[in-house]
Amino acid sequence: MCVAADWRRLHWWVVLQWVVGVALSGPCSQRCDCLPKLPIVNCSSRQLASVPDGLPDDTQTLNLSGNQLRTVARRRFSGLTLLRELDLSENMLTAIEAEAFAGLQNLLTLRLARNRLKIIPVRAFSGLPNVQFLDISENMLTAIEAEAFAGLLNLLTLRLARNRLKIIPVGAFSGLPNVQFLDISENEILVFLDDMFREMPSLQKLEASENDLVFISNRAFGGLANLQELNLDRCNLTSVPVEALSPLTGLLQLRLCRLGLTSLPNHSFRTLIRLRELHVSRCPWLDSLAANSLIGLNLSSLTLSHCNLSAVPYSPLHHLVYLRYLDLSYNPITIILPNLLGDLLRLQELHLVGTGLLRIEPGAFHNLAGFRLLNVSGNRLATLESSAFHSVGTLEVLRLDGNPLACDCRLLWLMRRRSRISFGHSPTCGSPVQVQGRMLHDFSEVELPRFFTCRQARILTRKPQDVRTDEGHTVLFFCAADGDPAPAITWMNPKRSILTSSGRVRVLPNGTLEVRYAQVQDSGYYLCVASNAAGNDSVSVSLWVRGFPASTRNRSGQFFLEGWSFTSGQAPVNGSQPFPFDVKTLVIAVTMGFLSFLSSVAVCFVFMFFWSQSKGQIKHTATIDFVPRSSASANRTGRTTVETGRFTMKLI
Ligand SMILES: *[C@@H]1O[C@H](CO)[C@@H](O)[C@H](O)[C@H]1NC(C)=O
Ligand SMILES: *[C@@H]1O[C@H](CO)[C@@H](O)[C@H](O)[C@H]1NC(C)=O
Ligand SMILES: *[C@@H]1O[C@H](CO)[C@@H](O)[C@H](O)[C@H]1NC(C)=O
Ligand SMILES: *[C@@H]1O[C@H](CO)[C@@H](O)[C@H](O)[C@H]1NC(C)=O
Ligand SMILES: *[C@@H]1O[C@H](CO)[C@@H](O)[C@H](O)[C@H]1NC(C)=O
Ligand SMILES: *[C@@H]1O[C@H](CO)[C@@H](O)[C@H](O)[C@H]1NC(C)=O
Ligand SMILES: *[C@@H]1O[C@H](CO)[C@@H](O)[C@H](O)[C@H]1NC(C)=O
Ligand SMILES: *[C@@H]1O[C@H](CO)[C@@H](O)[C@H](O)[C@H]1NC(C)=O
Ligand SMILES: *[C@@H]1O[C@H](CO)[C@@H](O)[C@H](O)[C@H]1NC(C)=O
Ligand SMILES: *[C@@H]1O[C@H](CO)[C@@H](O)[C@H](O)[C@H]1NC(C)=O
Ligand SMILES: *[C@@H]1O[C@H](CO)[C@@H](O)[C@H](O)[C@H]1NC(C)=O
Repeated sequence: MCVAADWRRLHWWVVLQWVVGVALSGPCSQRCDCLPKLPIVNCSSRQLASVPDGLPDDTQTLNLSGNQLRTVARRRFSGLTLLRELDLSENMLTAIEAEAFAGLQNLLTLRLARNRLKIIPVRAFSGLPNVQFLDISENMLTAIEAEAFAGLLNLLTLRLARNRLKIIPVGAFSGLPNVQFLDISENEILVFLDDMFREMPSLQKLEASENDLVFISNRAFGGLANLQELNLDRCNLTSVPVEALSPLTGLLQLRLCRLGLTSLPNHSFRTLIRLRELHVSRCPWLDSLAANSLIGLNLSSLTLSHCNLSAVPYSPLHHLVYLRYLDLSYNPITIILPNLLGDLLRLQELHLVGTGLLRIEPGAFHNLAGFRLLNVSGNRLATLESSAFHSVGTLEVLRLDGNPLACDCRLLWLMRRRSRISFGHSPTCGSPVQVQGRMLHDFSEVELPRFFTCRQARILTRKPQDVRTDEGHTVLFFCAADGDPAPAITWMNPKRSILTSSGRVRVLPNGTLEVRYAQVQDSGYYLCVASNAAGNDSVSVSLWVRGFPASTRNRSGQFFLEGWSFTSGQAPVNGSQPFPFDVKTLVIAVTMGFLSFLSSVAVCFVFMFFWSQSKGQIKHTATIDFVPRSSASANRTGRTTVETGRFTMKLI
């Protein structure tokens, strides 16, 4: 039964095809497939050199793609008043003649991609009042004349990508009141001129990537108040076109990629109050964001990837309280500091892939109560402590693969939560040696207490260190510790504040405390604390500095200690030790030397006076040459005058 029914159906099909073939004779029987029920004529890829004659009047879709058409004669399609879609892509059209498409009042879509068109003449598309979609991408267009598209009153989408346009004259896009999407990417456009898009008031998306743009004039985007999305990718711009962007008050999405930006200056986007998504990437020279560069923005998504930022731009970001997505991947960022992202209350996702990240400090994600995704794959992280997060309970996705993780007690929290967190690729252990290369998912529950352990920090140098010394000496205190993971060593001064690696009293890289030019005020008990994830250990040392006797200290004190740049007991903030004398001290010292010189000269003359009195007068004047020690000339009372390099004194 079934078989019989199928045969009958086939029979009717053959008859139908025959009837249709006879009824439609012309192109349908020979060249093209006509599907009368659906008014589609498929003439694609038939090696046609011209548009076939006799196309059915009721055709709604005509596909002539992939043929060898070189021209379309004037009013060639004028009979097809019901045509809604015409596909002429992949032919060899070199020119569009005037009125080529006249008469296609109902045409909605016109495809001319992948031909060899070089120019779009004035009013090339007149008589197409209803076309909504026009695709002329991948041709060889070098010019568009003014009013080329005039008459396309209902055009919504215009594609001109992958041509060779160098310049688009003002007026090229006039008469396009409804275009919403314009694609001029992959051309060779050098400048955007003033008012270039002014007659496209409905434009919502402008795709201008991959041009040779070197300049966008200040009023280029004038009239585009409805633009929502702008892509400027791979252009030769070296700065953000701040002024040009300012009319785009409706912009929601902005992409600036592969530009020659070196910094984002203050107020770069100040008028873009509705912008939600800013994407800046592949700007290899971009190494700084001014503190107020993002002021005025209220972003929910920010990407600053593949640039040269060496730190998370905490202060430019801090006002972005609605930010949910932040991507700083592929910047040379090595550390996430504690408590500095806390203003980004709603942050949910942070991507920091391939930045060479070494540490995520405890408290790094403090305050981020909705934080759900951290993507830090391909970094140099040795660990990720749960204290980095506001709460690990919200964490859903953690990309931690490609890091040399130390599988110790610091990752135990992660092992306990591993079934509730999605890892993408499973992270692997980089150390200790016995588990090197094992994936975190391979460990069974019973193995955890055996491998994911730590050894508490323990100070090895327990020998008492009590130093008594005179003022001005340099003293070292040792503090070495072991533990797993390797403990961090901190030193505290007698007032129990933490000492840093700079200043007069400083901690050396090997954990040794160095007190240079010990002062009386440095005296007291210093504490060395070695701490790691498993606990801490501490040891106390003492330093007693004996001052010089009061007389010696105070004699020089007036002139020397006054200018001494550091005050005892508290290290200078600056690592470099400034020169210990100020200019005033120097002048006084030089003047004193000069005075003592003068007094010895005076003594000499007094002696000569008495000598001459006793021996009788031989000479009444004496001239003494000398090299002055100071350019400041001193005029002493009495009979001494100072000239440059010469002393003349009249002897009585
Ligand atoms: C149109 O014809 C071409 C060439 O014969 C064929 O590859 C293609 O599938 C047809 N398209 C439709 C929609 O029938
Ligand atoms: C025309 O035919 C080509 C090849 O079959 C196909 O890729 C294209 O989508 C068709 N165009 C339309 C408008 O259907
Ligand atoms: C734009 O930059 C590219 C790559 O740096 C360069 O090859 C091209 O010559 C530049 N174009 C202009 C117009 O400066
Ligand atoms: C940016 O603004 C901040 C705050 O007003 C200011 O401190 C800084 O110097 C400005 N930077 C530049 C490059 O103008
Ligand atoms: C990136 O910054 C570093 C210093 O921070 C500099 O040495 C390097 O040359 C910069 N790279 C580029 C491409 O400017
Ligand atoms: C900022 O954007 C959020 C949506 O992301 C919106 O709810 C909020 O009202 C905006 N704030 C301002 C000041 O525009
Ligand atoms: C993490 O970042 C990498 C590189 O940007 C990306 O391929 C991957 O999809 C991201 N993973 C998640 C979960 O977002
Ligand atoms: C630490 O370094 C300092 C200076 O580099 C050196 O004098 C001291 O001996 C070192 N201490 C230890 C314990 O190696
Ligand atoms: C050392 O550990 C104790 C408790 O074990 C803790 O109270 C203290 O704050 C720790 N000190 C440091 C400097 O880590
Ligand atoms: C040094 O002299 C000052 C006054 O000039 C005095 O206040 C101070 O006590 C003296 N210092 C010592 C150690 O005697
Ligand atoms: C170091 O000192 C110089 C000059 O005294 C000063 O300009 C600079 O800000 C100081 N740097 C730090 C980190 O304190």
